[in-house]
Amino acid sequence: MFRFLPEQASDFAHKVDWINNLITDISVFFTVAIVGAMIYFAIVYRRRNGTNHETPQIRGSHFLEIVWTVVPTLICIFVAYYGVIYFRELREPPKDTLNINVSARQWDWDFQYDNGKKTFREFVVPVDQAVKLVMTSRDVLHSFFIPSMRVKQDVVPGQYTNLWFRPIKTGDYNVFCTEYCGKDHSTMLAKLKVVPADEYKRWVNDRSEEAALMQKSPAEQGADQYNKLCKTCHSMDGSKIIGPSFLKLFGKEEKLVDGSTAKVDENYLKESMLNPGAKIVEGFQNVMPSFAGQLTDPQIEGLIAFIKTVDGTQKVVMPEKTEEVAATTPVDRGKNLYSQKACIGCHSLDGSKLVGPTFKGIYGRKGKLADGTEYEANDAYITNSIKEPNSQVVEGFAPAMPQMPMSDEEIKDIIEFLKTVK
Ligand code: CUA
Repeated sequence: MFRFLPEQASDFAHKVDWINNLITDISVFFTVAIVGAMIYFAIVYRRRNGTNHETPQIRGSHFLEIVWTVVPTLICIFVAYYGVIYFRELREPPKDTLNINVSARQWDWDFQYDNGKKTFREFVVPVDQAVKLVMTSRDVLHSFFIPSMRVKQDVVPGQYTNLWFRPIKTGDYNVFCTEYCGKDHSTMLAKLKVVPADEYKRWVNDRSEEAALMQKSPAEQGADQYNKLCKTCHSMDGSKIIGPSFLKLFGKEEKLVDGSTAKVDENYLKESMLNPGAKIVEGFQNVMPSFAGQLTDPQIEGLIAFIKTVDGTQKVVMPEKTEEVAATTPVDRGKNLYSQKACIGCHSLDGSKLVGPTFKGIYGRKGKLADGTEYEANDAYITNSIKEPNSQVVEGFAPAMPQMPMSDEEIKDIIEFLKTVK
């Protein structure tokens, strides 16, 4: 009864489960016995027919006193004994561990192996090998939890903590952050892959992915990021969209809404990505989402390097074209429009909130507009949102969408595409 624990995937798991189940069973047994006796007595000895029953005076029982003192004490000592034994085992890693460094930040996990290999939100270990994680946090308190391994440990800024486990079966296991750490705590997840030893060896020595990244200059990497995240709102040709253009941006003196000025340098750009509301340029609205936790430091440096190349003289590192699908069906054409017309910068497909509502499950969605009226995202609503974007702004969003010059045909294709985004 009461067996809700997940799969036992480490050699330690059955010990945790054994003691945990024992405590649960003892608790359930005594809860049922005590509450049962209470209910039984309440019914049997209730007041009947208005007459009071005289109850006998009982003056204590040495036998009972001893039983209900000694039995619980023995149970507690027994449970505490195993608790201490297991806790020590859990806190003292064996000598031959595979060590992995773990770095937590809002809201992601980074892993680094002894040979320098780095991974993000996912780490791989060989089966039957003791693994030790040395963990620290770059910002706030997090907690690293792998339920199937039955291990959990706080991850603390300015300090190293560790935990170890020995996986006994291959497979994919979930890792959670289990200490509330801010807005996206619930999405701070990672995957643990346990694989056979030879597969692990191949994996950890395969650095081709990182090598491909390293062959690109920072500016080229920044161009990729620009293409993915920035281009909807920041033009490269000086035209004004939602945010300031990147053309000749670096080194410029920007006038801010509060009347002060700010010089666009590396710090200004980094702050604008991580804390966009800090300095709003005159003539623009405070609508940019923060990319804190989404952009790594090297990615930020790449973007800065890219922005520097957009100076109007030097040849710009052109962002790679976004992949296009052969557009034969309305859905495919709509999908191309989604990236070409740059809906992509403000409307996610995966449910995350950017400047505008996500497109995930948008078709047919019902909700409230900023003016309190209801809307349903049908053909008419979507068409109108493209043609007159700020006439029906969804509650919780700023009226920030620029008008999108699109033909009726194109709008139809977009709608067909949106129907498929579920
Ligand atoms: Cu990190 Cu919750």
